[in-house]
Amino acid sequence: MTNPLVIGNWKMNLLTAPACELAQSLVDRLSDARGVEVVIAPPFTSLYSVSQIVKGSPLGLAGQNFHYKSAGAYTGEVALEMLKDVGCNFSLIGHSERRSLFGETDEGVNKKIHHAMGLGILPIVCVGETLEQRNAGETLTTIESQLSIGLTGLSPEEKTRLVIAYEPVWAIGTGVNATPEQVVDVHKFIRKYLIESLGFSEEIGVRILYGGSVNPENSKQLLKEKEIDGALVGGASLNLESFCAIINSAIEP
Ligand code: PGA
Repeated sequence: MTNPLVIGNWKMNLLTAPACELAQSLVDRLSDARGVEVVIAPPFTSLYSVSQIVKGSPLGLAGQNFHYKSAGAYTGEVALEMLKDVGCNFSLIGHSERRSLFGETDEGVNKKIHHAMGLGILPIVCVGETLEQRNAGETLTTIESQLSIGLTGLSPEEKTRLVIAYEPVWAIGTGVNATPEQVVDVHKFIRKYLIESLGFSEEIGVRILYGGSVNPENSKQLLKEKEIDGALVGGASLNLESFCAIINSAIEP
């Protein structure tokens, strides 16, 4: 199986100077991150400067979002080609904040995944249920629908080149993480659905990350689960010590 993956989603935080400072500190500390793949997703405005710092280091760079067209009259949008141009090799797609605040749909997610595949960018596809959906017993049907529409039309080879991030909306930024048992149940469902219904390879496997209030206090418990292949970290990734502690719990689960 591939290495655990820990991604820091900086969201709309950090001006260029503190972003570079944090990236530099991470690069300095990453020599300790044996066997863990670490990626950061800074805001667009600091991507170029941060890319100059992470260049040649094991720290990967991700976009948080992009438009599925390559170029054109789309005021205010950023093309994936532009993210690639400044050194991104990953991108988040379909984060719940994009879905709930900016109207992103599963169909839009699908277009973006195809575009990313064409450019050799590794998509980190976010799925997850709201609290209402969980309380109504609709967690798995919600995720099934996000996956079936979002992942439509991928070739067998493309199916080996993506990462899923399970992020229950009620756990994001709330300080209330899903329990390891809740996460494992959903990850098992996702894995089975990908293999049995969407034709993903059982041998190659797909990495499924958990995101939602991951912090140094709960990361060890979550990441020691075999079903949890890494973490997508928001708030705690903005603090060097917290993020490094989370990375460390992926090293020695
Ligand atoms: P959080 O965010 O760790 O602050 O809950 C996770 C995410 O939105 O990716």
